Amino acid sequence: MDAAKYIWMNGKFVAWDDAKVHVLSHTIHYGNGVIEGTKAYKTAKGYAIFRLNEHTTRLKESAKMTLINIPYSVEEMNQAQIDLIKKNEFVGDNVYLRPFAFLGYGVMGVYHKDAPVETVMSAWEWGAYLGEDGLKKGIKLKIASMTRPSNTSNMGKAKATANYLNSQMAKYEAIDCGYDEALLLDDQGYVAEASGASFFMVVNGILVSPPSDNALVSITQKTVIEIAQDMGIKVERRRISREELYVADEAFLTGTAAEITPVRIIDAREIGNGSRGEMTEKLQSTYFDIVFGRNAKYEHYLTYID
Ligand SMILES: Cc1ncc(COP(=O)(O)O)c(C=O)c1O
Repeated sequence: MDAAKYIWMNGKFVAWDDAKVHVLSHTIHYGNGVIEGTKAYKTAKGYAIFRLNEHTTRLKESAKMTLINIPYSVEEMNQAQIDLIKKNEFVGDNVYLRPFAFLGYGVMGVYHKDAPVETVMSAWEWGAYLGEDGLKKGIKLKIASMTRPSNTSNMGKAKATANYLNSQMAKYEAIDCGYDEALLLDDQGYVAEASGASFFMVVNGILVSPPSDNALVSITQKTVIEIAQDMGIKVERRRISREELYVADEAFLTGTAAEITPVRIIDAREIGNGSRGEMTEKLQSTYFDIVFGRNAKYEHYLTYID
């Protein structure tokens, strides 16, 4: 990864190389931490963070769900991220932000109430998550052999570090089998989400995405639905079975990092004509116009860094 200059740690900026933790930090052993993935784009008026407040609010809510008491308000953490972008003097088109709250050093054993909470904001320049080629030509998606853990034993709506063991196993399997990304079904066999993104398909001109029943409540998914509805596209949120995917006209993934990435193959079946679909391309170019500040209607989603 490309190192930046500074990381914000518990209210102070520290040099990138000095942002360290003890090996006995609680989260490293027991996996309870919460993250965000937020993105800033270089617009004509300088960097702007996309839907900053929603991302920071989700961090605070993920922490509440997982019993981590972050000692900063959403406003304070928003400001930390704005300051972080300024202080690092980035130059690239994209900057990825990684807000993170975790349990630090001092307590061992599963019970975590007395473990200190550490709050960290990092940012670095990061290219397309599924590759520049993937954005244009589409990626190969594999349904993972593991499902998302059921809602009776997991908190899938928390963006919790612990949830990424499931994502990691699925992603590794997909790449090992020659694919680019994994799609996870829920424990009933319906599409939940990809290892780090949401799923959409197009069927007979209708845009379909599964409900968030067993998935992160995604900010990009919400944005894409809003864009589509503004374009007059009919959107349905309903359960999707495996067979339906294979005969969809188009498919794509969405996420802060994945942006809008077309899917050209699912499990050895070509989707549509095996390249980026027409609706996918339209939504993709509108999305990039919005995040890069070229669409006045969605300007309210941008927090400019002056
Ligand atoms: C598991 C998972 N689902 C969905 C998403 C998409 O969420 P968002 O659009 O809020 O970035 C992400 C990415 O953050 C993710 O990690």
